[in-house]
Amino acid sequence: MTRHAHIAGWGMYVPQLVLTNDDLAQRVDTSDEWIRTRTGIVERHIAGPQDTTSTMAIAAGRAALDRADLAPGQIDAIIVATVSGDYVTPSTACLVQAGLGASSAAAFDISAGCSGFIYALSLAHMGIASGQWKTVMVIGAETLSRFTNWQDRNTCVLFGDGAGALVVSAHEEPGGILATRLGADGSGADLLRIPAGGSRQPASAESVTAAQHYFQMDGSAVYRFATRAMPAAVQEVVKAAGLTLQDVDLIIPHQANVRIIEAARKVLGLPEEALFVNIERYGNTSAASIPIALCEAADDQLINDGSHLVLVGFGAGLTWAAAILRWGIPLPARPQRWPYRQWQRLRFALAGIRMRLQRLLHLLARHLPPGN
Ligand code: COA
Repeated sequence: MTRHAHIAGWGMYVPQLVLTNDDLAQRVDTSDEWIRTRTGIVERHIAGPQDTTSTMAIAAGRAALDRADLAPGQIDAIIVATVSGDYVTPSTACLVQAGLGASSAAAFDISAGCSGFIYALSLAHMGIASGQWKTVMVIGAETLSRFTNWQDRNTCVLFGDGAGALVVSAHEEPGGILATRLGADGSGADLLRIPAGGSRQPASAESVTAAQHYFQMDGSAVYRFATRAMPAAVQEVVKAAGLTLQDVDLIIPHQANVRIIEAARKVLGLPEEALFVNIERYGNTSAASIPIALCEAADDQLINDGSHLVLVGFGAGLTWAAAILRWGIPLPARPQRWPYRQWQRLRFALAGIRMRLQRLLHLLARHLPPGN
């Protein structure tokens, strides 16, 4: 039996606080005009004190489960793509697993820069096609604001925070994820990185003073790489699915810079409406940018049953990735009446209580004398 990996649910979360270009111009030597014309960004959402990468991922994951009408216990694996996890270890995915109460799920993170979400989606595809998993939660989530040097105008105007999640599930009906292509060029590792805080340069008072625990980027080198990598990846993945660009209804590119998207569009010879853009409201949310854009495109009904959709990204590593999907499986009817909503909330609450009880048991076990 061939198992196809279909998108069964989607959800997103962005923090409430909005930082405009004018707000930024009060902090660093920049202007709304410079940021708009060079990047297309107008505002971005920034995590509040209560938001972390895992809390935003959990909120997006709950919304996706709700849409798919699935309970947390039905998830077989949670893959979180992030470069700004809550901790170096454990993985953010494990925190999400606990927060969702997904007690049967394996959980791990993927670090592939802004391409991370498509890398994660590709793994979900393989896990489902091989029969290993039936339902996978794929999340892109970032709190880039905590790794941004707010004194550095070269980077601080670009980034934003948020999370997007997809539920990918196995079905016999052909369609869903048709093909993926992943690539990397590690010789460009220095072009976009956080120098300190890893094993090469552990965090120290000196590294903090020298602002080495923030993003550093060679913007023009990344720009040149992106304008080559994006159209090439789109062409490759479309070909891998045995299709042509004419068959593609919508391209959802990583939202890093509207000029990069525009350059890729011109190389591909496509009309403006062929590429989805929402960078003006979110900035670059790294691994979260593609799932957030996908959620908005789906909710705006830009994607219909049978639509061919290409997701394409590039980022730190250097990495690039693309996926092509045929959208549309019979989604559960989503009655919005109160009993349904209350039932979903109760399911999440029960899952959370169970996970908390398990934590308590771990704690108690630590205080019991050995042998008990
Ligand atoms: N406000 C005002 N001026 C700024 C500025 C800002 N926020 N940031 C940089 N500048 C200045 C530079 O200092 C430079 O000044 P100089 O000529 O006096 O040295 C000038 O603007 C032009 O800089 P340049 O790097 O040529 O601008 P650009 O047109 O290439 O745009 C980026 C800069 C960063 C927007 C662009 O290179 C880019 O988007 N790169 C890709 C980044 C990316 O996508 N990263 C994430 C990958 S996932």
